[in-house]
Amino acid sequence: MSSQLLKKKSIDHLLAEAEAPGHQLRKSLGPWSLTALGIGAIIGTGIFILTGTAAAGEALQFHSILKAPLLGVLLHGSHAVGTAGRPGAGPSIALSFLLVAIACALAGLCYAELASMIPIAGSAYTYTYATLGEIVAWIIGWDLILEYAVSNMAVAVGFSAYVDSLLQGFGLKLPQQLMNPLLNDSLHRTGAWFNLPGFLIVMFLTVLLVIGIRESAGANNLLVSIKIIAIFIFITAAARYIHVSNWKPFMPNGWQGVLTGGAIVFFTYIGFDSVSTAAEECKNPRRDVPFGIIASLIVCAVLYISVALVLTGIQHWDTLRNAAPVANALVAIGLPRVKQWVTVGALMGMISSLLVFQLGQARVWFAMSRDGLLPRVFSSVHARFRTPHVSTWVAGFFVAIPAGIFDIGTLADLSNIGTLFAFVLVSLGVLVLRRTQPERRRGFRTPAVPAVPILSILCCMVLMASLPVETWLRFVVWLIVGLVIYFVYSQHHSEFGRDPHVVLAPPEAVTSHRETT
Ligand code: ALA
Repeated sequence: MSSQLLKKKSIDHLLAEAEAPGHQLRKSLGPWSLTALGIGAIIGTGIFILTGTAAAGEALQFHSILKAPLLGVLLHGSHAVGTAGRPGAGPSIALSFLLVAIACALAGLCYAELASMIPIAGSAYTYTYATLGEIVAWIIGWDLILEYAVSNMAVAVGFSAYVDSLLQGFGLKLPQQLMNPLLNDSLHRTGAWFNLPGFLIVMFLTVLLVIGIRESAGANNLLVSIKIIAIFIFITAAARYIHVSNWKPFMPNGWQGVLTGGAIVFFTYIGFDSVSTAAEECKNPRRDVPFGIIASLIVCAVLYISVALVLTGIQHWDTLRNAAPVANALVAIGLPRVKQWVTVGALMGMISSLLVFQLGQARVWFAMSRDGLLPRVFSSVHARFRTPHVSTWVAGFFVAIPAGIFDIGTLADLSNIGTLFAFVLVSLGVLVLRRTQPERRRGFRTPAVPAVPILSILCCMVLMASLPVETWLRFVVWLIVGLVIYFVYSQHHSEFGRDPHVVLAPPEAVTSHRETT
């Protein structure tokens, strides 16, 4: 049994499974739709909120060691409690955005190579099955579900607040009992019954995703266009109000501020990895998935840095510590109409992020089920729409119901840790496959191997270590739950579990020379 845990699937077998009758997804995505999916996932609400939070810093409001960064606790023990507040980056938040973009680009280059080699729906989960074996693959699949689901549960809760404020602008007021989750983050009753808008938007997007990948990508293109226009309106309108004096000093808290700001804004870059979950639905995945990943990262980095410079130019960074820093700064300089655009941009950002993360989550359920690690029914493909309809419904209910009941905003850090963990394993995957299968065809090759994957791993580990101890504990609990499911169910139902003699990983010498098309 223990050897089963480390058994790897051959890439040829994975590719053949994806072509098996009854499992084929419709291949309709091109490079621009993929780039738009990446931008759709990356730009959510983070840009409109976290830019201000990270520039202004967070107050010293935590008194528990659990809130302190793990790295601080390891280095300084309980003295780290005092460092739980985070110093502001000030205008140098633009530099934080640049540094995090570089860190994400290192991981993005690794994703691009593996996606071009193994263009299969499961993304990091599938790459890990081919490189590190079944148990690590299970862990990463379980971890990806966490990344996508937690992020969307948090966004679905925030969505209701935006809908509420937008409707109030038109003089409409919905019953507050239906605008908030039943329980707050301490599991106490909030006085409300259910977050209905959050539930409904996730279910609406689920229907769209079931109807078709082309239709979903078309809707996403529209959402992305509107949010980019909204960001452009903000940049061009507000740029005239920049006072260079607000940028002085540029780094009020030195490098510590820049790095702490980076850890906070990392969340805003989460999402480009979901492009690779759509690899099986691309017309030319080997060329287009790397393009989509890298292009979406570049576009978002340019937009983020521009927004950061304009925001800290129009208002002193110290005034940005509030729940809606961009909107409030616009009101303060007398541009309330531009604020409406920012609200529309944030709303479109939320919907597109929800859409692409639901798409990614469903494809991970789908790929794990196709391998037998989750019940087979999840990998059935709709006869007419050619979408993974059962896994899409499962992912929909998995997010929409908790979003209606719980306010899990404070768990959003789980999404960060889950993503960083996936980045580490993908970067490791590049190193492993370069060694074990050097001859296999790659549509894209990560430059400067091993330096790029190693640097990517180091950057991710530093960012992971800067997350609070509490996040680590929750992450470990999630992984333990996953391992229990694996040992009770998945291990016995996977292809290796059902037939220990099945040869799914032919000798590398054969595999590595086999050309796949
Ligand atoms: N990157 C997404 C956002 O900023 C999750 O909202």
